[in-house]
Amino acid sequence: MSLWKKHQKIEKNVTLLFILSLLVVSIGGLVEIVPLFYIDNTIEKVEGVRPYSPLELKGRDIYIREGCYVCHSQMIRPMRDEVERYGHYSLAAESMYDHPFQWGSKRTGPDLARVGGRYSDQWHVDHLTDPQSVVPGSIMPKYGFLKRTRLEAGDIVAEMKVLRTLGVPYTDEMIAKAEEDLVNQADPDADAEDIQSRYPKAQVRNFDGQPELTEMDALIAYLQMLGTLVDFSTFQPDASR
Ligand code: HEC
Repeated sequence: MSLWKKHQKIEKNVTLLFILSLLVVSIGGLVEIVPLFYIDNTIEKVEGVRPYSPLELKGRDIYIREGCYVCHSQMIRPMRDEVERYGHYSLAAESMYDHPFQWGSKRTGPDLARVGGRYSDQWHVDHLTDPQSVVPGSIMPKYGFLKRTRLEAGDIVAEMKVLRTLGVPYTDEMIAKAEEDLVNQADPDADAEDIQSRYPKAQVRNFDGQPELTEMDALIAYLQMLGTLVDFSTFQPDASR
């Protein structure tokens, strides 16, 4: 009997077809799933990705509190139109310290995964205060009150400790200096190198242009960092994975 004839037999017998299909699918499934139990981490390590500085972390909390994720995604898909508009597609590692992640599910506004450095701080202050003043026709709400709301360190230390239990590698030093770093990152006279020794590439300056440390400073520090940690001029995907 030729192979073709044998296969005809399978195709004509529903029970046999079902059993053999199930066998094939199970083998395929096991091959995909079993290795996942033997590796600790499915996320490829990427140079440059680091935990958020205390000021960026506060900014991220404000981002979540204000529901920015309702209108903005932070996940650039590897499709040509997205990559041309927003830049290099998002890597899993870029959100590995996000608890919860901010990939979002709807884009009423543009993706923000690589918005860092795209605009000046002043543009962000103007835009967040009154979006239509810089983008006529914008339907984004106004967030001018952030500029008038002092930033409180609050429970930043506790927050970092909780994140550490979730796997974010905050060191004892980072936690001990959290409140200091929070204030200093928005102070143009502070020792930037000291902050950058803990948080490489951290941008240190007065983000909202006012003397007080406000929620606007924190939010802009966060926005200006987004997508800037990995150097894509040298990034090479790990082909061994
Ligand atoms: C109701 C939906 C909505 C919400 C909520 C919203 N935005 Fe937007 N956002 C938009 C739209 C629409 C645009 C595009 C027009 C514009 O630039 O204003 C935009 C644009 C932006 C841009 C410019 C992006 C670019 O690449 O040009 C930034 C930055 C931004 N939003 C940040 C925020 C932040 C931070 C928050 C939360 C404090 C927020 N948005 C909340 C709708 C929203």
